[in-house]
Amino acid sequence: MKNIWIIANWKSNKTIAEGLDWVSKVGPNIPKKENLKVVICPTFSSLSEIKKIIQVNGFPIMLGAQDLSPYPIGAYTGAESAFLLKDLIDLSILGHSERRKNFSEDDEMIAKKAEQANESKIIPLVCVQGEETLVPQGCNMIAYEPIWAIGSGNPDTPESANKVAGTFIQKHGDQLEVIYGGSVNSRNVAGFVTQQNISGVLIGNASLDADEFIKICQIASENF
Ligand code: PGA
Repeated sequence: MKNIWIIANWKSNKTIAEGLDWVSKVGPNIPKKENLKVVICPTFSSLSEIKKIIQVNGFPIMLGAQDLSPYPIGAYTGAESAFLLKDLIDLSILGHSERRKNFSEDDEMIAKKAEQANESKIIPLVCVQGEETLVPQGCNMIAYEPIWAIGSGNPDTPESANKVAGTFIQKHGDQLEVIYGGSVNSRNVAGFVTQQNISGVLIGNASLDADEFIKICQIASENF
């Protein structure tokens, strides 16, 4: 049975206090199902406090970062290296279209980030914007996120996302897990997680609200 990943991307939102409040509401309400993998990707500044509350309460939540450095530890001012993050996170989003656009990230840099993540045993979750986007070597999880669907309230159809996911799987092998992202919410999540080639969802806006996120997890767990 495949895994279903429900991944919250908070982007540049939530203070530490707001993040802790969210986790204390969501944590006890996540359905306990072995193949349901719930991951939160908060800001770097919240990671260690959120890690603590998850561990103390034994919540079934994994932690992720939204990015990491293409370089190892050393003289790289301002960078968050995979080696230093590995005690806090299991996964890192890489190459999100907002980073490609606002921080001029290109495929070469994203490949370096994926390599750093792998060296520290952090899962690189590389965002691809369409079938033409490069998947770096050693990357077994991608998020298909068409740019027009992000934050627009206008998601791709589950059938079309499934088709794109299938093309990537055909090209890179069936160990590749493909997540869909772009305007996912509690009303449309069931359509995506029931698709054969889709292994979960990456959620921005709708993940900020604790009640909505709980609903998404519950609906997803009932539908696969
Ligand atoms: P959205 O964002 O759910 O707000 O569309 C998804 C993402 O950017 O990962």
